[in-house]
Amino acid sequence: MIDSLPQARLPRARIDRGLDVAGCHVDLAIDEAVDRSGISAAAARLAEDLVAAHSGCERRLVRVAALLPSGRPLAMVRGRGATVSVSLSHAGGLCGAAVCGTAGVGLDIVDPGEAGPALDVWFTPAELALFPDDGLLRPRLWAAKEAAFKAARLDDGFRPRAVAIERLDAAGFCWTVCGRYRRVCGRGVFTEAGTHLVAIAVAAASIRVEHQAGSD
Ligand SMILES: CC(C)(COP(=O)(O)OP(=O)(O)OC[C@H]1O[C@@H](n2cnc3c(N)ncnc32)[C@H](O)[C@@H]1OP(=O)(O)O)[C@@H](O)C(=O)NCCC(=O)NCCS
Repeated sequence: MIDSLPQARLPRARIDRGLDVAGCHVDLAIDEAVDRSGISAAAARLAEDLVAAHSGCERRLVRVAALLPSGRPLAMVRGRGATVSVSLSHAGGLCGAAVCGTAGVGLDIVDPGEAGPALDVWFTPAELALFPDDGLLRPRLWAAKEAAFKAARLDDGFRPRAVAIERLDAAGFCWTVCGRYRRVCGRGVFTEAGTHLVAIAVAAASIRVEHQAGSD
């Protein structure tokens, strides 16, 4: 885990198969995008590589595409929805993908230099008090919120204050996302990619809630 901004360069195409995230096996791939204008496609291709390896099927039979209108990525094998969950992220020339066969997964890559006090409007005082401000408190909180939102798979639109980070340390976090119709909770871990912070969240439970009129 990183305690200060790391200086190391990212080894090209870092791949972790079978990462343990709260008891779930997650496959993670992070790479430097050759062409920044094609970074979304590069992340989707990384996810396709992981899904093919995870499913043991030919690479050409796998496609990862965005579900509209939310933009959530979906994996398809032979034109049918795959049973695995996929998540994509890109930041500062890096693209990444995470795949999990047993839980909703969410990946977020954050440049710590871009996650400063301007983000405090999205954090509660309780969240800001979860861990000492060691320079990575805000990047961790922000990455945790975005990864948790993606893992929740609610297709509601991202509202940072609807994502509560309940526990946080340098290694991981616990979260709850309150959507319009469901409340989803789970856990996550942090790792690093070069100078970037990486959060990986997995969903543990989803509970149906009544939609409150005027709660939007
Ligand atoms: C999810 C979101 C907060 C991530 O933004 P970000 O952290 O700046 O960017 P990242 O690079 O880390 O992640 C982007 C990826 O998140 C994924 N993503 C987008 N929406 C998602 C969702 N609802 N759930 C899960 N993943 C989502 C996509 O794969 C996207 O990649 P793409 O831009 O290449 O398509 C942002 O994409 C968002 O706000 N999406 C919601 C869009 C929305 O409100 N749609 C309207 C109707 S529901």
